[in-house]
Amino acid sequence: MSIIVTGSIAWDYLMRFPGRFKDHILPGQEKLSVSFLVDEKERHRGGTAPNIAYNLALLGERPRIVGAAGLDFEDYRQWLESVGVDTSLIRIHPDEFTATFSVITDLDHNQIASFHTGAMARAREIDLREVGAENIDWVIISPDDPVAMTNHAQACRDMGVPFVYDPSQQLARISREDFLFGLEGAAVLTVNDYELEMAKRLAGMNETELLTHVKAIVVTRGPDGASVITQEGEIHVPAARPEVAVEPTGVGDAFRAGMLVGLNAGYPWETILKLGNTAAVYVIERTGTQNHAYTREEFLARVRENYGDLPVLKTCCQKS
Ligand SMILES: Nc1ncnc2c1ncn2[C@@H]1O[C@H](COP(=O)(O)OP(=O)(O)OP(=O)(O)O)[C@@H](O)[C@H]1O
Ligand SMILES: [Mg+2]
Repeated sequence: MSIIVTGSIAWDYLMRFPGRFKDHILPGQEKLSVSFLVDEKERHRGGTAPNIAYNLALLGERPRIVGAAGLDFEDYRQWLESVGVDTSLIRIHPDEFTATFSVITDLDHNQIASFHTGAMARAREIDLREVGAENIDWVIISPDDPVAMTNHAQACRDMGVPFVYDPSQQLARISREDFLFGLEGAAVLTVNDYELEMAKRLAGMNETELLTHVKAIVVTRGPDGASVITQEGEIHVPAARPEVAVEPTGVGDAFRAGMLVGLNAGYPWETILKLGNTAAVYVIERTGTQNHAYTREEFLARVRENYGDLPVLKTCCQKS
């Protein structure tokens, strides 16, 4: 039994342009042809599925990623295995590149980004039912090929396994129909506060109406922490304190890992949100989404520092 993490698998290429885009883009020109000589390029492990799975492994789980990657994935795969993530369900397509996120940032922090789908488009060929309900504790459906997300939601319903629906940035591009199809019967919808407004607008529903399709809505609120809305009302937990604030990319994914550990253990909502908030702060303290690390003892000490001594901490986050 384990937690299944479905979502994108990507390499992130981060480049720095030591100038200003605006000095190179001429106003009034119909044609645009620019090339920026960048002086720094970093490659980071990315994608929502490995980001969430990496944090789950730190928290003592042995998560399995379900997704599609390409010919440039082997060193990434080995690294994931070395940190305790099961990659056996990842489909590798030797005729495709792994999805690539590329972003150039200029001196004014303006960004030009692109996302090449590559092998990710073939995530739709994966049928979660083949894993077998008896081998699954929880599933999280994170941003991925949109058809794959829809298929996974249907597979979870068919198998009767609990799932978290996590559309995140895909909310900007999916149809109302696809959104409602993914949401139906989910145990949890997770969104940040901005995405909650987008979700309400897309569905044409308020929170109460959304709760007729999903049992709980978990809303992350950046430095203000996180809340859960259920038919019983709303519970809010303030954020944990980062030691330094370096770079927040990936906080949402780390939060989801902490939340999943709590859901899987059957903890009360307040505890679930405390675990999510604590898992998130480590990401703010480093650049990159998988460059932080901690031991079980360090994590539990961090929960205590922020929220006091919770009774569940004696048994939480054991390596199984
Ligand atoms: N400045 C901060 N200080 C402490 N905790 C933070 C801060 N920013 C975010 N967090 C934690 O991370 C969680 C997720 O943050 P947020 O709501 O910004 O997610 P997000 O917008 O989906 O982020 P992203 O998609 O960039 O990963 C919050 O619920 C909170 O626990
Ligand atoms: Mg997010």
